[in-house]
Amino acid sequence: LLLTVVLIIFAYLLGSISSAILICRILNLPDPRTQGSNNPGATNVLRISNKRTAIAVLTFDVLKGTIPVWGAYFFGLEPISLGLIALAACLGHMYPIFFQFKGGKAVATAFGVLLPIGLDLAGLLIFTWYFVAKITRYSSLAAIVTVSLAPVYTWLLKPLYTYPVIMLSVLIILRHRANLWRLIRGIEPKISTKKSI
Ligand code: G3P
Repeated sequence: LLLTVVLIIFAYLLGSISSAILICRILNLPDPRTQGSNNPGATNVLRISNKRTAIAVLTFDVLKGTIPVWGAYFFGLEPISLGLIALAACLGHMYPIFFQFKGGKAVATAFGVLLPIGLDLAGLLIFTWYFVAKITRYSSLAAIVTVSLAPVYTWLLKPLYTYPVIMLSVLIILRHRANLWRLIRGIEPKISTKKSI
């Protein structure tokens, strides 16, 4: 139990390190929370910077989910503990203690926490996101469709983890309320860099 608690705290703190805000600070770019969609995530960093910066943010945000969950796997913790650690990492990203609790939508971090569950699940999630993004050019819609299907994929491939994945999906969809509203009204911006606007 002690190890689970330690890893939950570690996951929350690591999740709280907002790579989008930090990388933008380092590169002398504006705070992503004041630009575009105001979201500190890879999609919005792509709007204010370029692909390379967005990929750096994406990689960091995926890893901060993967590292604590992979650690929990390594120590042989049960699925319930893994689920709590995974949720803590995503909640850290959404409500970071280091950045006035104003964080992101945890799409990349959620993918990161699901990676250790299995490459089959990860592959399906990437495929779904990429397929929707390629057709519609909406990052948010790709995320919403992917997280909506994630519990179904999990139930089919790794049923033990279905409940934590449902919780994650609900949290992430709730974080996309503004995107959903913009999508319905047809004013959601498509995936793009500054250069192509
Ligand atoms: O990863 C977040 C994405 O789904 C939406 O980002 O900046 O368009 O709100 P954004």
